[in-house]
Amino acid sequence: MSVDTQPKPAENPGTPFYRLGGAPVFEAIAERFYDLVEQDSAYAQLRAMHAPDLAPVCASLPKFLAGWAGGPRDWFEANPGRCMMSLHKPMTIDKAVAGQWAEAMQRAIADVAPEPADMARAMGDILADMARAMGR
Ligand code: HEM
Repeated sequence: MSVDTQPKPAENPGTPFYRLGGAPVFEAIAERFYDLVEQDSAYAQLRAMHAPDLAPVCASLPKFLAGWAGGPRDWFEANPGRCMMSLHKPMTIDKAVAGQWAEAMQRAIADVAPEPADMARAMGDILADMARAMGR
């Protein structure tokens, strides 16, 4: 029998990931985000850029956000060297579609309403700023 003696990285309960509720909250945000993208015609341009099946990206986004927000880094370990810039570089992202991403993400976070509310709002604002900065 083999015993896993590798030390596990300590979970830091002070990071936004854990303070906002961890994986279930980040998964709920991603689900709400892609539901909005799918269902609200205001995001039709953003929807059209995605693959017909949103399930893979819906599974991937919360794992990315987890590592980004100080939680488990599985996505980054599974995708060595990948970052926001390399991921989106091949895409043409205009200001309109960047604004759609930003708005849908802020709505998704508001709808899931994680606590503490001020930290959730701050995270939504940062993600929205990142998205808008990607628009050309
Ligand atoms: C600025 C507007 C943005 C647009 C138009 C956009 C568009 C896209 C598209 C089309 C995909 C591929 C999905 C598919 O294969 O169906 C994707 C993947 C992804 N995007 Fe964005 N994106 C934007 C901003 C962001 C931001 C701000 C983040 C995170 C902070 C983000 C995180 C991701 C992740 C994690 C993936 C999946 C990567 C993987 O394959 O594991 N995106 N994005």
